[in-house]
Amino acid sequence: MQGQALPGFRDFYPDELALKNHIFATWRDVARRYGFQEYDGPPLEPLELYTDKSGEEIVQQLYAFEDKGGRKVALRPEMTPTLARMVGAHAQALKKPIRWFSIPQLFRYERQQRGRLREHFQLNMDIIGEASPLADAELIAAAIDIMRAFGLGPADVRARVSDRRVLRTLLLGRGLTEPQLPAAFEVIDKSERVPRDAMAAKLRETGIGKRETDAVFEIAALRGLDAVAAALAKVKGGEEAGEPLRQAVGALEAMGLGDFVLVDLTIVRGLAYYTGIVFELFDTGKSLRAICGGGRYDGLLNALGGVDLPALGFGMGDVVLGELLKERGPADQASTKLDAFLIAVSGEDMAPVLKLAHQLRDLGVAVEYGLRPAAIRKQLELAAARGAPRAIIVGPDERAAGEVVVRDLKAGTEARVPIAKLSGLFH
Ligand code: HAM
Repeated sequence: MQGQALPGFRDFYPDELALKNHIFATWRDVARRYGFQEYDGPPLEPLELYTDKSGEEIVQQLYAFEDKGGRKVALRPEMTPTLARMVGAHAQALKKPIRWFSIPQLFRYERQQRGRLREHFQLNMDIIGEASPLADAELIAAAIDIMRAFGLGPADVRARVSDRRVLRTLLLGRGLTEPQLPAAFEVIDKSERVPRDAMAAKLRETGIGKRETDAVFEIAALRGLDAVAAALAKVKGGEEAGEPLRQAVGALEAMGLGDFVLVDLTIVRGLAYYTGIVFELFDTGKSLRAICGGGRYDGLLNALGGVDLPALGFGMGDVVLGELLKERGPADQASTKLDAFLIAVSGEDMAPVLKLAHQLRDLGVAVEYGLRPAAIRKQLELAAARGAPRAIIVGPDERAAGEVVVRDLKAGTEARVPIAKLSGLFH
């Protein structure tokens, strides 16, 4: 149907665009406070950039086609492979650790549902060239501070944090074998959404025994650093495997963000390239999908960029966040913010209105006026519909005295103001 955008694609009418701009401005502000530099890449990339390392799920969702030159290409479904490629190409010249952010539009052919569309914008913040868990804490803190910048607290959102090294060590320590790990990871990832019987059956299919299956569910149920540490203490290499997670959570507590953080081993993340700490932000009601997700991907730069650098980052989409803000956020995102609406009393006042409007705009003041002669009542109606806080009324008598009438449209009060002093109203 011609009147509608494609399924999963959005038209941004001014109010919706205002919310998006508000989100982008907040993202940029927090990224700046954390000392991140902005970059961008192309929206169309070679298909193999994703087929190699991103994992099955995202590959199935690709918008992929052959271009007129016979190249196999895809619209970017995520930013991380582009980042790995870009950094790989200039790795020598870039001062490490690299702290970069970007706000790409991404495309995934997903089944449409609440919070999931076929295009979305995603803030990406990544640190490349730093293996210390302080880098993990830094990124989780940035994601939390974005929530705080939107006025959301620990009663609204939580960061659920895990570590794939911890999961690996626990699973191997409880008798699973290396080839059984992917199936166990998948089950743990889905353990909150899929009934236990179905998952146990899946584990059985992969040849995982009863005792090991029970271990998988026990591990998935671990919550909190202490419980995880206690479980790790019982397996070989456990203490060492738990150290980065312990340090990262400790750093978040030192920053005063401990109330936002929950150690939760069910966070595995769908993408194939994660190697260490992984995390997601959720609304506490869990009525929405993940607000953000990320983690450490120490092998990806080598695989895609040919340089061996540790790396980590997260992606935060505008869709789930937008829904959360519509539900709970402060509603301060008017699509226009006029400072004044100018009103011409008679036809002769039009030229002075044009002159005054232009002078005010040169000073940075946002003004509008009626584009055709109309009764004062009509002009005032438009001023009110636009949400202008005041009307500046230009009429023959006041003009002769070098003045205008300024009407406060909220209070309904009026005052005569010398034209020369008008700009003082707006500072
Ligand atoms: P992701 O978990 O696929 O990670 O996406 C991150 C976030 O983007 C999600 O939590 C969600 O807010 C949003 N998002 C993803 N798909 C959609 C969709 N179809 N519609 C609306 N929002 C969506 C990544 O993409 C990783 N590359 C993030 C990353 C950066 N990891 C390291 N650096």
